[in-house]
Amino acid sequence: MKALSPRAASRAVNRGAAPVTYGTGDHPPRGDYARARSDYTCEQVATYSAVEHETYRRLFARQRQQLPGLACEEFIAAVQQLGGPDRIPRLDAISQRLRPATGWELVAVPGLIPEEAFFALLAARRFPVTDWIRTPQEFDYVVEPDVFHDLFGHVPLLFNPVFADYMQAYGRGGLKASRLDACELLARLYWTTVEFGLIATPHGLRAYGAGLLSSAAELPHSVRSPQARRVAFNLQRMMRSRYRIDSFQASYFVIDSFDQLFAATAPDFTPVYAEVRATIAQAGEIEAGAVLPGEREFTP
Ligand code: PHE
Ligand code: CO
Repeated sequence: MKALSPRAASRAVNRGAAPVTYGTGDHPPRGDYARARSDYTCEQVATYSAVEHETYRRLFARQRQQLPGLACEEFIAAVQQLGGPDRIPRLDAISQRLRPATGWELVAVPGLIPEEAFFALLAARRFPVTDWIRTPQEFDYVVEPDVFHDLFGHVPLLFNPVFADYMQAYGRGGLKASRLDACELLARLYWTTVEFGLIATPHGLRAYGAGLLSSAAELPHSVRSPQARRVAFNLQRMMRSRYRIDSFQASYFVIDSFDQLFAATAPDFTPVYAEVRATIAQAGEIEAGAVLPGEREFTP
């Protein structure tokens, strides 16, 4: 899921491949917003066509078979909570399992929603799931997050208590960042963790970011490719870093654990934003894919 501003619009795209920036006016977001309530949620589409269920089934099958060795264990353990792989699930059915696990619930949205609405939903432990699915022609790449990206990529880790708390903290932090005009810096944290994060485990590197877990091609690339660069999680460094929206990420950030991620992001970001702004003013932003002197790289 992602929000609708130009920045945010680039943020939660399912990375099958190529590029896209919108919000710049070249095309309006997909989705029928007349269906939405004032908080941007809507009723999930009542019935999907046979072709739509089949697209979901094929996406699910392709992605599930490559999870071992590439996805983190917490994710693999929870994929079954999505229900049968043959049909687009009902969000309410997943919420019935999710609420007792971590207190989260899923809500349908017509597509990208504005940043503040997105933050408000996360802060209330409600995860917005786009309810439409890509066309068969878009099987490998869709420019906006669809129900497959949002469900398969994001929902399994909402069953993990620590990650679930992190997502809510992010939503609260987003509401604060809006007041501090710091959404661009905070968005870099979302991009490098929730969407494209890697985690170091005793068995090797694994993906936990939804943009990776829902992408057939970038998932193995991020974990195994010698071409990809991987550096350790570092909050201020990540907030200074530009990222690509038009190709695989040139570099990935590696956490040790969800506990580390939660603890490192728990402090008030007000002074962090100020420091990051000062560093950027002095030393500039870090280009996508750059590795700094002295920075240790993780190798697959
Ligand atoms: N600690 C952050 C703040 O004060 C909130 C936050 C938590 C943001 C976790 C992102 C992730 O703004
Ligand atoms: Co996403």
